[in-house]
Amino acid sequence: MIKILINFIFVLCLLPVVTSDCTCDDNVHNVVQAHSNKKLYPARISGFAGAVYDADFKPSCHDQRPNVLLPGFVTLTDGKLIVDRDFDLEKDSFLRLTIHGVDFDDPICLNGTSQYVVLPDNMCRINLCEFIGVPMCKILQKKGTHTLKELQKKLNFNTTLELPEPPSLLGLSLLDLFSGEFSFTFAVETAGETILELDIPTNHKNLQIGLED
Ligand SMILES: *[C@@H]1O[C@H](CO)[C@@H](O)[C@H](O)[C@H]1NC(C)=O
Ligand SMILES: *[C@@H]1O[C@H](CO)[C@@H](O)[C@H](O)[C@H]1NC(C)=O
Repeated sequence: MIKILINFIFVLCLLPVVTSDCTCDDNVHNVVQAHSNKKLYPARISGFAGAVYDADFKPSCHDQRPNVLLPGFVTLTDGKLIVDRDFDLEKDSFLRLTIHGVDFDDPICLNGTSQYVVLPDNMCRINLCEFIGVPMCKILQKKGTHTLKELQKKLNFNTTLELPEPPSLLGLSLLDLFSGEFSFTFAVETAGETILELDIPTNHKNLQIGLED
């Protein structure tokens, strides 16, 4: 019975008239937005947006909301970083992740510290300049407003990023553990000070990751 129902829903999705729940219009339904919610920090990100795609570069959605697939692609479409004063990110800077999962009672990472034995701390606390590249760090640490366009121009930065196959731990793909709905906060810490927080996503409560169609 359930199988028939699923088949029925699947067929409905293929009919153009009733596609409402299944459509995934590029740059509409597959868009992930993010921004800094706390204004007190000396650096803020606003209007950050990216569209997600599957490995064949088809827009990726689930229930008309973006669905991040690994492997897959994300194309960054907008965003700017406002920096109130100069920093030395190259010298020392870390991303401290906080990750909440709908299927998890406790946060997975809490402000840079893993809350689960299977997950090493270095997946929750990441060297910023190794992660985004030193040339990008050199630009972002300067006081001013930095736009995605500026980075594209100065760094010849390709705004389409490949999302890799998920890493595996103890022979278990992290995607088996971490597919579902999640929310992320990235905090940037430099010289012992938190200077920026970025919440992902901000256009939905959670971000869907690795959900099957
Ligand atoms: C996160 O950890 C850093 C370093 O211990 C600390 O300075 C900061 O206040 C913490 N942030 C939150 C929101 O707990
Ligand atoms: C940007 O990267 C994507 C994905 O790796 C690739 O398909 C595309 O050709 C690249 N674009 C340019 C202009 O290099």
